[in-house]
Amino acid sequence: MIFIYIVYLIVQQSQATNVIEDLKTDNWTSCEEFLMNTTFDIQSVIDVDWKIFYFWNYEVERSYNIRFSLATPILVDRFKVALRDMDTSVNWTRAVLFMETSIDFSALYLTTNISGQFRIIPSFAFQMEKIPLLIFGLKIVKPGYLGIINCLHRFCYALAPVDKMPEENKINLAAEMLGFKGDFNRSYLTNEYDPPIIPSPYSEDDEDEDEQLEIENEEYALKN
Ligand SMILES: *[C@@H]1O[C@H](CO)[C@@H](O)[C@H](O)[C@H]1NC(C)=O
Ligand SMILES: *[C@@H]1O[C@H](CO)[C@@H](O)[C@H](O)[C@H]1NC(C)=O
Ligand SMILES: *[C@@H]1O[C@H](CO)[C@@H](O)[C@H](O)[C@H]1NC(C)=O
Ligand SMILES: *[C@@H]1O[C@H](CO)[C@@H](O)[C@H](O)[C@H]1NC(C)=O
Ligand SMILES: *[C@@H]1O[C@H](CO)[C@@H](O)[C@H](O)[C@H]1NC(C)=O
Repeated sequence: MIFIYIVYLIVQQSQATNVIEDLKTDNWTSCEEFLMNTTFDIQSVIDVDWKIFYFWNYEVERSYNIRFSLATPILVDRFKVALRDMDTSVNWTRAVLFMETSIDFSALYLTTNISGQFRIIPSFAFQMEKIPLLIFGLKIVKPGYLGIINCLHRFCYALAPVDKMPEENKINLAAEMLGFKGDFNRSYLTNEYDPPIIPSPYSEDDEDEDEQLEIENEEYALKN
């Protein structure tokens, strides 16, 4: 159920409008600003066990681990064969990275024309009728922290290698290194089970989740 819920959240984040109307993120740092004057080298993120230590997001979050590897031809082919009829505009030769996480969410990263900006093809697209349009921005800042931003919603995540996590009393300072300005900034490193800032209307009732996911998918199909 938690997996379905997380999938639901990611799908929800890929929608064109915020579900919660009052919460606008348009005064948060944009993807463009976030990536300005940066160049991203994919070698800098691979084969490192990253862990989220901070985020700016009003939704449920967790401090999960992320690992990147180079996208192998076999793997890219698996995505391509399964998904090519869904969206013929995807340029699979742009696939460079594969991301795996400790929450069963994995994705291919395809380069765009902008350094550090990627189109993400999540593996849960296999269960959908359309490939959701997810654009993420990535940058590395001193002293080796990784910033990931969801370009559409401007939700931002700060990560560090698991063996180089910022000290507990320096988490805020470390997060500031990303130069990201937003609200609902917090960490679950020390208190993993904080409730979300804004309880999602779908997190209350487990039994309804599958149905909600279907409804979301239908809406997505209609809008696109
Ligand atoms: C990017 O570089 C330009 C030119 O050096 C500078 O004017 C601008 O302030 C920089 N922007 C950021 C966000 O670093
Ligand atoms: C796909 O991407 C590759 C690598 O960036 C590029 O050389 C090629 O022209 C692109 N193909 C199409 C159809 O856009
Ligand atoms: C990327 O760059 C190519 C070549 O400069 C251009 O044809 C294409 O339209 C660009 N794509 C986007 C999404 O900007
Ligand atoms: C987080 O938010 C507080 C206000 O709630 C602010 O004082 C602080 O600078 C913010 N930290 C970061 C890293 O954005
Ligand atoms: C964005 O605007 C809201 C509402 O005016 C304000 O509370 C918040 O502090 C602003 N956030 C940033 C990052 O400027």
